[in-house]
Amino acid sequence: MLRTPLLLAARSQTARTVVERTPMTRAMVDRFVAGADLESALPTVADVTRDRHVTLDFLGEDTTDRAQADATVRAYEELLAALGEGGLAKRAEVSVKLSAVGQFLGADGESIALDNARRIAEAAKAAGTTVTLDMEDHTTVDSTLGILRELRTDFPFVGAVLQAYLHRTVADCRDLSGAGSRVRLCKGAYDEPASVAYRDKHEVDRAYVRALRVLMEGDGYPMVASHDPRMVAIAGELASAAGRSADDHEYQMLFGIRDKEQSRLAAEGKTMRVYVPYGTEWFGYYMRRLAERPANMLFLARSLVTR
Ligand code: FDA
Repeated sequence: MLRTPLLLAARSQTARTVVERTPMTRAMVDRFVAGADLESALPTVADVTRDRHVTLDFLGEDTTDRAQADATVRAYEELLAALGEGGLAKRAEVSVKLSAVGQFLGADGESIALDNARRIAEAAKAAGTTVTLDMEDHTTVDSTLGILRELRTDFPFVGAVLQAYLHRTVADCRDLSGAGSRVRLCKGAYDEPASVAYRDKHEVDRAYVRALRVLMEGDGYPMVASHDPRMVAIAGELASAAGRSADDHEYQMLFGIRDKEQSRLAAEGKTMRVYVPYGTEWFGYYMRRLAERPANMLFLARSLVTR
């Protein structure tokens, strides 16, 4: 019931002002975000990479300002240099939202985003790690997959997220299930219309399994991005049935969610990667985490009442 209003609020400046001024917000944000800058995020990376892998996201999205898009690219270049120099690149890669590097900058947005993503991919290549393109709302999917195709010509290690709730995704999984292709499959975090997406939880779960089957039976590298114990168990069965070993698929969860389970799966010998966001532009990311789990909202409300 709260999901749609929370996801609408995620794109509202008024809601942003109210939420940012709410005293308990900080504690909740700290649960999901590793720090305001690279310096404060790096200890988390060092800690998590003791038993798991990491993908780092420099927070930001829906950028309408060229200078901000450029600043985001520089932040990724700095991050990737730090991963390379710190010997972390074997266990840490980066995730990038194309809307943060220019995809929405008018008629030239797509080519600006492509050029900027190339710079990030160059820096990842120099550091010896990979890049995964996040997937945003359904209006961006064709553009994001087009940019992915272009990037992979020169940087075949670039992967992308696909969202199981979209009706199109099984077909996209087929297109991206070839050798060398890295696909992070998630359920999907945006408020999408029924014309393009499943909206019922059980339908989304069934769609997730259909898409995962295609990826596991393909020749690429499937990345199972879900905290749902059923999806994780089914992924294990599909991987075994397809003859996959622990190093040709992986599990992924978000920083701050099911932390013990992440370490348990890693201790079982599975490849487990944690999505670690950092930066000051946390509002949209944080609101999507609230929308995913009503209990997070209740926790926030209780904190406000008992303050
Ligand atoms: P589900 O929502 O059914 O949750 C299963 C269980 O996980 C819950 O019962 C609860 O225990 C726990 N849980 C889930 N969310 C929680 C939360 N916010 N707080 C506390 N507990 C929670 N989406 C997208 O549209 N584009 C993208 O690029 C990405 N990228 C991405 C990367 C990675 C590594 C992950 C793990 C997820 C994403 N997502 C995403 C988000 C994804 O689409 C989805 O919204 C969330 O992962 C929640 O879905 P689950 O599969 O975890 O299942």
